[in-house]
Amino acid sequence: MKLAQKGSCDKLDRKSFPENNYDCPFRKADEILDEFKDENLSAIIVDFHAEATSEKNGLAQYLDGRVSAVLGTHTHVGTDDWQVLPAGTAYVTDIGMVGAKDSILGVDKKGILKTFLTQIPEVHEIPEEGICTVNAIYLEINPKTHEAVKIKKIKEEIKI
Ligand SMILES: [Fe+2]
Repeated sequence: MKLAQKGSCDKLDRKSFPENNYDCPFRKADEILDEFKDENLSAIIVDFHAEATSEKNGLAQYLDGRVSAVLGTHTHVGTDDWQVLPAGTAYVTDIGMVGAKDSILGVDKKGILKTFLTQIPEVHEIPEEGICTVNAIYLEINPKTHEAVKIKKIKEEIKI
């Protein structure tokens, strides 16, 4: 499937997040894949750094069978929807973070809470010790077909 035409998704993310102003990710993906179409790549992994879960899912469905994996990032919160899509693309809406467990998205919670309560921005302090949550994705890809064979969530906690 390759349907993204100029203008078709320029305002897609701006409906939910009007402060964003960047290229349409669907058209950009088409451009990049076209640019590398003659390369002998054993895998193509897309890190889709975005907020809206629907857009991440939409891009994965759009690229299913054309890339090995679409892995969402940015929210810091891992999702439990990892899967191999029908045409062979591995997908997860968000991998999740590697960061302090006793925090708000990996940042010291006192400063973030103060910002929420006062609307005055605080410096983000990153905890340097304590329990660290490690979120990751394990992928197996067939290098001959570029298709994903397996996707699995990894979630561990370690003490630093
Ligand atoms: Fe981000």
